[in-house]
Amino acid sequence: MLDVLLDGLASLEYRGYDSAGIAVEAGEDLWRARAATGTRSLDDLRKLASAAPAGVFAGIGHTRWATHGAPVEANAHPHLDCTGTVAVVHNGIIENCRELSEMLLGEGHDLISETDTELLAHLVERELATGASLADALRATLRQVEGAFALAVMWPGEPGTIVAARRVSPLVLGRVDIAGPPTAGPGTAGPGTAGPPTAGPGTAGPGTAGPPTAGPEGCQWMLASDVPALLGRTRTFWVIEDDQLAELRAGSMRVTTLAGKDVEPSELHVEWDVEAAQKGGFDDFMSKEMHEQPRAIADTLLGRALPGGLLALDQMRISDEELREVDKVVVVACGSSYHAGLVAKFAIEHWARLPAEIDIASEFRYRDPILDRRTLVVGVSQSGETVDTLQAMREARRWDAKVLVISNVVDSSMAREADGVLYTRAGPEIGVAATKTHLAQIVALEVLALYLAQLRGIIYPTEVERLLDDIARLPELVQLALDRSDSVRAVAAKYAATRDFFFLGRNVGFPVALEGALKLKELAYLRAEGYPAGELKHGPIALIEPGTVVVGVATRTRLWEKMMGNIAEVRSRGATVVLVANDGDDQAGSEADDVLWVPATHPVLAPVVDVVPLQLFAYHLARRHGHDVDRPRNLAKTVTVE
Ligand code: M6R
Repeated sequence: MLDVLLDGLASLEYRGYDSAGIAVEAGEDLWRARAATGTRSLDDLRKLASAAPAGVFAGIGHTRWATHGAPVEANAHPHLDCTGTVAVVHNGIIENCRELSEMLLGEGHDLISETDTELLAHLVERELATGASLADALRATLRQVEGAFALAVMWPGEPGTIVAARRVSPLVLGRVDIAGPPTAGPGTAGPGTAGPPTAGPGTAGPGTAGPPTAGPEGCQWMLASDVPALLGRTRTFWVIEDDQLAELRAGSMRVTTLAGKDVEPSELHVEWDVEAAQKGGFDDFMSKEMHEQPRAIADTLLGRALPGGLLALDQMRISDEELREVDKVVVVACGSSYHAGLVAKFAIEHWARLPAEIDIASEFRYRDPILDRRTLVVGVSQSGETVDTLQAMREARRWDAKVLVISNVVDSSMAREADGVLYTRAGPEIGVAATKTHLAQIVALEVLALYLAQLRGIIYPTEVERLLDDIARLPELVQLALDRSDSVRAVAAKYAATRDFFFLGRNVGFPVALEGALKLKELAYLRAEGYPAGELKHGPIALIEPGTVVVGVATRTRLWEKMMGNIAEVRSRGATVVLVANDGDDQAGSEADDVLWVPATHPVLAPVVDVVPLQLFAYHLARRHGHDVDRPRNLAKTVTVE
């Protein structure tokens, strides 16, 4: 059984983790082991597991990618309640964790970790104390919980039982039929179980399940947050849907709604090999990660909107008073993060009416920046480790500026050193090209802009609410843009022989053009120049000749007419034009040789949607040229050298 847990966790290793842990039945108790030694955690956990009790039938395991609290052992899953007998592994984010922890602390519960997951163990403990069964205790718990979860719970009061549930975060069940007599002990043998994953903001973590052994019918039940965890043992899965609960017992499995009504889970037969399963059936991680973008945005937004149009940020060690005194914002970042920062400049100036500068981090500290304690410096970095951005933030601190970081990695160097952190919750990004983290960064920065606007009293709460509604619709719009991948591929195919591209945009379309060009360079190894369209006439227009391919971001943002004027300039010189345009915009369509259609949104939010077809365009061209989109040449995912 331990092998099932540990091998399952290892199969999810590719997703990244900072700690790992398991809990297994041990008579009337639980036995738990955890290791928080970064990428060594699983190896260390295996060593610890050699001391586990023999003959266990049920267990849960988890690898954690931190979202709430640092990646230390105390925050590693499984988490326990006050009695030490309820064990929980969880992926996801509990949005109302503040209220819940106040309630639990008020009732005298001992909260040991900084995680939202631990609250679940204590909530189950409360319900068990009323005499509820484990399944009912979990049902009652989940009625109090807002947010996303895939979780598994065990309690020796019901030996050989694992109860699991999901909302938003994925959870699958698997069954292994065992030939011959069951191995589990009569009556007790338990089901196996699984652990979830985590996917949260910025995090993700696999969980895994482990089954126990056979029950009377000679089968083992297992569950996991993702198919690869169980693929070595079964190819038949059952998918647990939102707000459903699974009870695994020796040789039996029952799925119900949270209200307790029995449901028949849908069966899924998986033909993928482990590698394909790790990629979720996509050809590569980049494709998978692009398709995870709606989820990444939604997770980044979880828990941000508070009643009354108020907004919540993470780990803000800068007081609202200090933020109110801020008279300038300086964003520092590299690559795609820099492009997200460029969008932030528009959002901060537009909504918060604060002067905002944006700097390439590698230049920042060498240009004698003018900073003081009223400057807010925002470092944007997926990894939180990029040395140029880290050094830029250190330079800012030297001048007494307040430093905030937008990062996808909890407890990264930047997160540790900053005065405040706003986490993107895109989950680990394996492809070298930033995709889902880029979109999550833009969304986080837009939320920050609204936060500053609200603090400064520039914006009415009702307007914040309205804008948050627009932001909340972004996942759906991004999904629509992704659904058009085949049309983008067809357009890309027409340009398979083109070696040079011009990407043009204006206003918030300019960072989109830069990002589209960067993606094409790094993935397809094609020359691509991103330019503000209004600058063309100051030089680069000399390069436009018949056949030059110009990709323009021409959605209906503030400078659409002017952008179309610039497109007319290049068309009249014979350029071939591909436009990103809003659905139904026939006027834009008539000015283009090819159109990459996207749904419309609020103009300041448009980059989140508009960049998607350009990611796809670069992706399809790179594939056509036979390049490895996950590992482009000469590039590292995290750049820790200057
Ligand atoms: O981890 P960071 O966000 O700080 O990384 C910054 C850049 O190195 C990164 O965005 C890079 O440009 C990507 N490969 C772009 O796809």
